[in-house]
Amino acid sequence: MEYSINEDLKEVRKILSFAGAQSWTSEKYQNDIYSFILQNQNLGVGVVELGCYKGGLSVFLSYACQKLGFPFYTIDLEPQFVNETRTLLRRLDLAKNVVFFQGTLAGFVSEVKLKDPPLLVVVDGDHQYQGVFDDIRSLHQMQPRSYAAAFHDFSLRHDQMPDERVDKTIYDFFGSDVDLARIGEQFDIHTSHPLKERPSPDGHYWELNGSEGVIVKLPVKPPVKQGESVNFAQSVTAWWREKLRQRRI
Ligand SMILES: C[S@@+](CC[C@H](N)C(=O)[O-])C[C@H]1O[C@@H](n2cnc3c(N)ncnc32)[C@H](O)[C@@H]1O
Repeated sequence: MEYSINEDLKEVRKILSFAGAQSWTSEKYQNDIYSFILQNQNLGVGVVELGCYKGGLSVFLSYACQKLGFPFYTIDLEPQFVNETRTLLRRLDLAKNVVFFQGTLAGFVSEVKLKDPPLLVVVDGDHQYQGVFDDIRSLHQMQPRSYAAAFHDFSLRHDQMPDERVDKTIYDFFGSDVDLARIGEQFDIHTSHPLKERPSPDGHYWELNGSEGVIVKLPVKPPVKQGESVNFAQSVTAWWREKLRQRRI
Protein backbone atom coordinates (compact mmCIF):
# COMPACT_ATOMS: atom_id res chain seq x y z
CA MET A 1 0.00 0.00 0.00
CA GLU A 2 1.27 3.45 -0.87
CA TYR A 3 -0.65 5.29 1.78
CA SER A 4 -0.22 5.27 5.53
CA ILE A 5 -2.99 4.47 7.98
CA ASN A 6 -2.55 7.67 9.95
CA GLU A 7 -2.62 10.02 6.97
CA ASP A 8 -5.76 8.40 5.59
CA LEU A 9 -7.54 8.55 8.90
CA LYS A 10 -6.69 12.21 9.42
CA GLU A 11 -8.20 12.97 6.04
CA VAL A 12 -11.35 10.99 6.79
CA ARG A 13 -11.81 12.66 10.16
CA LYS A 14 -11.43 16.10 8.60
CA ILE A 15 -14.18 15.24 6.11
CA LEU A 16 -16.35 13.99 8.97
CA SER A 17 -16.01 17.15 11.02
CA PHE A 18 -16.89 19.29 7.96
CA ALA A 19 -19.98 17.15 7.41
CA GLY A 20 -21.00 17.43 11.09
CA ALA A 21 -21.32 13.66 11.39
CA GLN A 22 -20.17 12.03 14.59
CA SER A 23 -19.53 8.34 15.15
CA TRP A 24 -20.25 6.87 18.58
CA THR A 25 -17.00 4.96 18.30
CA SER A 26 -13.69 6.30 19.60
CA GLU A 27 -10.79 7.38 17.41
CA LYS A 28 -8.82 4.48 18.86
CA TYR A 29 -11.58 2.03 17.78
CA GLN A 30 -11.57 3.48 14.27
CA ASN A 31 -7.78 3.21 14.09
CA ASP A 32 -7.88 -0.42 15.17
CA ILE A 33 -10.62 -1.33 12.68
CA TYR A 34 -8.71 0.47 9.95
CA SER A 35 -5.48 -1.34 10.83
CA PHE A 36 -7.27 -4.65 10.82
CA ILE A 37 -8.76 -4.01 7.37
CA LEU A 38 -5.44 -2.95 5.87
CA GLN A 39 -3.36 -5.65 7.51
CA ASN A 40 -5.77 -8.45 6.59
CA GLN A 41 -6.95 -7.15 3.25
CA ASN A 42 -6.08 -10.37 1.45
CA LEU A 43 -8.33 -12.47 3.69
CA GLY A 44 -11.66 -11.25 2.35
CA VAL A 45 -13.32 -8.85 -0.07
CA GLY A 46 -15.63 -6.23 1.37
CA VAL A 47 -16.89 -4.86 4.67
CA VAL A 48 -20.41 -5.08 6.12
CA GLU A 49 -21.57 -2.56 8.74
CA LEU A 50 -24.54 -3.38 10.97
CA GLY A 51 -26.04 -0.26 12.58
CA CYS A 52 -24.93 2.73 10.53
CA TYR A 53 -26.97 5.28 12.55
CA LYS A 54 -26.03 8.70 11.06
CA GLY A 55 -23.13 7.39 9.03
CA GLY A 56 -20.24 8.59 11.21
CA LEU A 57 -18.39 5.28 11.04
CA SER A 58 -19.80 4.41 7.59
CA VAL A 59 -17.86 7.32 6.07
CA PHE A 60 -14.66 5.92 7.43
CA LEU A 61 -15.42 2.31 6.43
CA SER A 62 -16.57 3.34 2.95
CA TYR A 63 -13.39 5.38 2.53
CA ALA A 64 -11.24 2.37 3.42
CA CYS A 65 -13.26 0.13 1.07
CA GLN A 66 -12.91 2.60 -1.80
CA LYS A 67 -9.13 2.63 -1.30
CA LEU A 68 -9.05 -1.16 -1.47
CA GLY A 69 -11.61 -1.60 -4.27
CA PHE A 70 -13.90 -3.46 -1.85
CA PRO A 71 -17.70 -3.42 -1.83
CA PHE A 72 -19.17 -1.84 1.30
CA TYR A 73 -22.57 -2.88 2.68
CA THR A 74 -24.25 -0.83 5.38
CA ILE A 75 -27.38 -1.87 7.27
CA ASP A 76 -29.79 -0.25 9.71
CA LEU A 77 -33.23 -1.16 10.98
CA GLU A 78 -34.41 2.44 10.74
CA PRO A 79 -35.17 3.80 7.24
CA GLN A 80 -34.34 7.33 8.46
CA PHE A 81 -30.77 6.34 9.35
CA VAL A 82 -30.24 4.46 6.09
CA ASN A 83 -31.38 7.58 4.22
CA GLU A 84 -29.18 9.91 6.29
CA THR A 85 -26.16 7.68 5.74
CA ARG A 86 -26.85 7.42 2.00
CA THR A 87 -27.14 11.21 1.73
CA LEU A 88 -23.93 11.75 3.70
CA LEU A 89 -21.91 9.26 1.66
CA ARG A 90 -23.24 10.67 -1.62
CA ARG A 91 -22.29 14.20 -0.58
CA LEU A 92 -18.77 13.02 0.18
CA ASP A 93 -18.52 11.03 -3.05
CA LEU A 94 -18.19 7.85 -0.99
CA ALA A 95 -21.36 6.07 -2.16
CA LYS A 96 -19.79 4.18 -5.05
CA ASN A 97 -19.58 0.44 -4.38
CA VAL A 98 -21.99 0.84 -1.45
CA VAL A 99 -25.12 -1.22 -0.87
CA PHE A 100 -27.54 0.43 1.58
CA PHE A 101 -29.84 -2.08 3.26
CA GLN A 102 -32.77 -1.31 5.54
CA GLY A 103 -33.54 -4.18 7.93
CA THR A 104 -31.75 -6.68 10.12
CA LEU A 105 -28.61 -8.71 9.50
CA ALA A 106 -30.83 -11.79 9.13
CA GLY A 107 -32.75 -9.99 6.36
CA PHE A 108 -29.53 -8.90 4.70
CA VAL A 109 -28.15 -12.43 4.75
CA SER A 110 -31.28 -13.87 3.18
CA GLU A 111 -31.77 -11.14 0.56
CA VAL A 112 -28.34 -9.92 -0.54
CA LYS A 113 -26.15 -12.17 -2.64
CA LEU A 114 -22.45 -11.78 -1.81
CA LYS A 115 -19.98 -12.52 -4.58
CA ASP A 116 -16.96 -12.93 -2.28
CA PRO A 117 -16.48 -13.63 1.43
CA PRO A 118 -16.25 -10.27 3.23
CA LEU A 119 -13.20 -9.51 5.31
CA LEU A 120 -15.10 -7.99 8.22
CA VAL A 121 -18.60 -7.40 9.59
CA VAL A 122 -18.71 -4.45 11.99
CA VAL A 123 -21.55 -5.13 14.44
CA ASP A 124 -23.07 -2.17 16.31
CA GLY A 125 -26.84 -2.68 16.23
CA ASP A 126 -29.01 -4.21 18.96
CA HIS A 127 -26.95 -4.59 22.16
CA GLN A 128 -29.45 -6.75 24.08
CA TYR A 129 -28.46 -10.37 24.70
CA GLN A 130 -31.01 -11.92 22.31
CA GLY A 131 -30.34 -9.30 19.63
CA VAL A 132 -26.59 -9.91 19.70
CA PHE A 133 -27.21 -13.65 19.72
CA ASP A 134 -29.42 -13.40 16.63
CA ASP A 135 -26.79 -11.30 14.87
CA ILE A 136 -24.02 -13.80 15.63
CA ARG A 137 -26.23 -16.58 14.30
CA SER A 138 -26.81 -14.55 11.12
CA LEU A 139 -23.05 -14.02 10.78
CA HIS A 140 -22.69 -17.77 10.59
CA GLN A 141 -25.47 -18.06 8.03
CA MET A 142 -23.82 -15.52 5.72
CA GLN A 143 -22.76 -17.17 2.46
CA PRO A 144 -19.91 -16.90 1.81
CA ARG A 145 -18.99 -16.25 5.42
CA SER A 146 -17.00 -13.22 6.56
CA TYR A 147 -13.44 -13.80 7.80
CA ALA A 148 -14.03 -11.90 11.04
CA ALA A 149 -16.49 -9.76 12.97
CA ALA A 150 -15.95 -6.69 15.14
CA PHE A 151 -18.32 -5.95 18.02
CA HIS A 152 -18.66 -2.46 19.48
CA ASP A 153 -19.72 -1.76 23.10
CA PHE A 154 -18.27 -5.06 24.28
CA SER A 155 -18.09 -4.08 27.99
CA LEU A 156 -20.81 -1.42 28.04
CA ARG A 157 -23.21 -1.43 30.99
CA HIS A 158 -26.42 0.35 32.05
CA ASP A 159 -27.85 -0.69 35.44
CA GLN A 160 -31.33 -0.03 34.00
CA MET A 161 -30.64 -2.48 31.15
CA PRO A 162 -29.08 -5.62 32.68
CA ASP A 163 -29.67 -7.52 29.46
CA GLU A 164 -27.31 -5.25 27.54
CA ARG A 165 -24.37 -7.66 27.56
CA VAL A 166 -22.45 -7.91 24.31
CA ASP A 167 -19.51 -9.60 26.08
CA LYS A 168 -21.65 -12.28 27.73
CA THR A 169 -23.37 -13.14 24.45
CA ILE A 170 -20.01 -13.55 22.71
CA TYR A 171 -18.61 -15.79 25.47
CA ASP A 172 -21.81 -17.86 25.58
CA PHE A 173 -21.80 -18.36 21.84
CA PHE A 174 -18.10 -18.86 21.09
CA GLY A 175 -16.93 -20.31 24.41
CA SER A 176 -15.18 -18.66 27.34
CA ASP A 177 -11.73 -19.30 25.89
CA VAL A 178 -12.48 -17.65 22.54
CA ASP A 179 -9.56 -15.63 21.15
CA LEU A 180 -10.65 -12.02 21.16
CA ALA A 181 -8.56 -9.15 19.88
CA ARG A 182 -9.44 -6.22 22.11
CA ILE A 183 -9.85 -2.99 20.16
CA GLY A 184 -10.65 0.62 20.94
CA GLU A 185 -10.53 2.17 24.41
CA GLN A 186 -9.49 -0.04 27.33
CA PHE A 187 -10.99 0.63 30.75
CA ASP A 188 -8.57 0.04 33.59
CA ILE A 189 -8.66 1.75 36.96
CA HIS A 190 -6.92 4.82 35.50
CA THR A 191 -9.44 5.42 32.71
CA SER A 192 -11.19 8.78 32.46
CA HIS A 193 -14.25 7.01 31.01
CA PRO A 194 -17.28 6.21 33.21
CA LEU A 195 -16.94 3.22 35.55
CA LYS A 196 -19.58 1.64 37.82
CA GLU A 197 -18.82 3.88 40.81
CA ARG A 198 -18.86 7.01 38.64
CA PRO A 199 -21.36 6.43 35.80
CA SER A 200 -22.12 9.03 33.15
CA PRO A 201 -25.20 11.28 33.58
CA ASP A 202 -27.16 9.01 31.20
CA GLY A 203 -26.29 6.00 33.38
CA HIS A 204 -23.85 4.21 31.11
CA TYR A 205 -20.48 2.97 32.32
CA TRP A 206 -17.79 0.46 31.37
CA GLU A 207 -16.91 -2.75 33.13
CA LEU A 208 -13.58 -2.40 34.93
CA ASN A 209 -10.79 -3.92 32.78
CA GLY A 210 -13.25 -4.10 29.92
CA SER A 211 -12.84 -3.17 26.28
CA GLU A 212 -14.72 -0.84 23.93
CA GLY A 213 -14.75 -3.51 21.25
CA VAL A 214 -13.38 -6.84 20.11
CA ILE A 215 -12.63 -8.60 16.87
CA VAL A 216 -13.28 -12.31 16.60
CA LYS A 217 -12.33 -14.57 13.74
CA LEU A 218 -15.38 -16.52 12.67
CA PRO A 219 -15.14 -20.29 12.83
CA VAL A 220 -15.22 -22.28 9.64
CA LYS A 221 -17.63 -24.82 11.11
CA PRO A 222 -21.37 -24.06 11.47
CA PRO A 223 -22.56 -22.56 14.77
CA VAL A 224 -24.14 -24.43 17.64
CA LYS A 225 -27.82 -24.16 18.52
CA GLN A 226 -28.95 -21.50 20.93
CA GLY A 227 -28.24 -22.37 24.55
CA GLU A 228 -25.18 -24.48 23.84
CA SER A 229 -21.71 -23.05 24.03
CA VAL A 230 -19.06 -23.82 21.51
CA ASN A 231 -15.38 -24.37 22.05
CA PHE A 232 -13.18 -24.15 19.05
CA ALA A 233 -9.50 -23.57 18.58
CA GLN A 234 -8.95 -20.48 16.49
CA SER A 235 -5.81 -19.92 14.56
CA VAL A 236 -4.55 -16.39 14.92
CA THR A 237 -2.81 -14.04 12.56
CA ALA A 238 0.35 -12.23 13.53
CA TRP A 239 -1.74 -9.12 14.08
CA TRP A 240 -3.99 -11.05 16.43
CA ARG A 241 -1.12 -12.37 18.50
CA GLU A 242 0.37 -8.90 18.74
CA LYS A 243 -2.93 -7.44 19.95
CA LEU A 244 -3.37 -10.17 22.52
CA ARG A 245 0.17 -9.74 23.80
CA GLN A 246 -0.33 -6.00 24.18
CA ARG A 247 -3.73 -5.97 25.72
CA ARG A 248 -4.62 -9.22 27.49
CA ILE A 249 -5.17 -8.54 31.16
C1 LIG B 1 -25.24 2.60 18.49
S1 LIG B 1 -25.99 2.96 16.96
C2 LIG B 1 -24.68 2.72 15.82
C3 LIG B 1 -23.67 3.83 15.86
C4 LIG B 1 -22.72 3.85 14.69
N1 LIG B 1 -21.98 2.60 14.57
C5 LIG B 1 -21.75 5.00 14.83
O1 LIG B 1 -20.55 4.75 14.90
O2 LIG B 1 -22.19 6.15 14.88
C6 LIG B 1 -26.99 1.55 16.70
C7 LIG B 1 -27.76 1.55 15.40
O3 LIG B 1 -28.22 0.23 15.17
C8 LIG B 1 -29.54 0.27 14.69
N2 LIG B 1 -30.17 -1.00 15.10
C9 LIG B 1 -30.63 -1.37 16.32
N3 LIG B 1 -31.05 -2.64 16.31
C10 LIG B 1 -30.83 -3.12 15.06
C11 LIG B 1 -31.05 -4.38 14.42
N4 LIG B 1 -31.57 -5.42 15.07
N5 LIG B 1 -30.72 -4.50 13.11
C12 LIG B 1 -30.20 -3.44 12.43
N6 LIG B 1 -29.96 -2.23 12.99
C13 LIG B 1 -30.27 -2.08 14.28
C14 LIG B 1 -30.16 1.50 15.30
O4 LIG B 1 -31.23 1.99 14.51
C15 LIG B 1 -28.97 2.45 15.36
O5 LIG B 1 -28.93 3.28 14.22
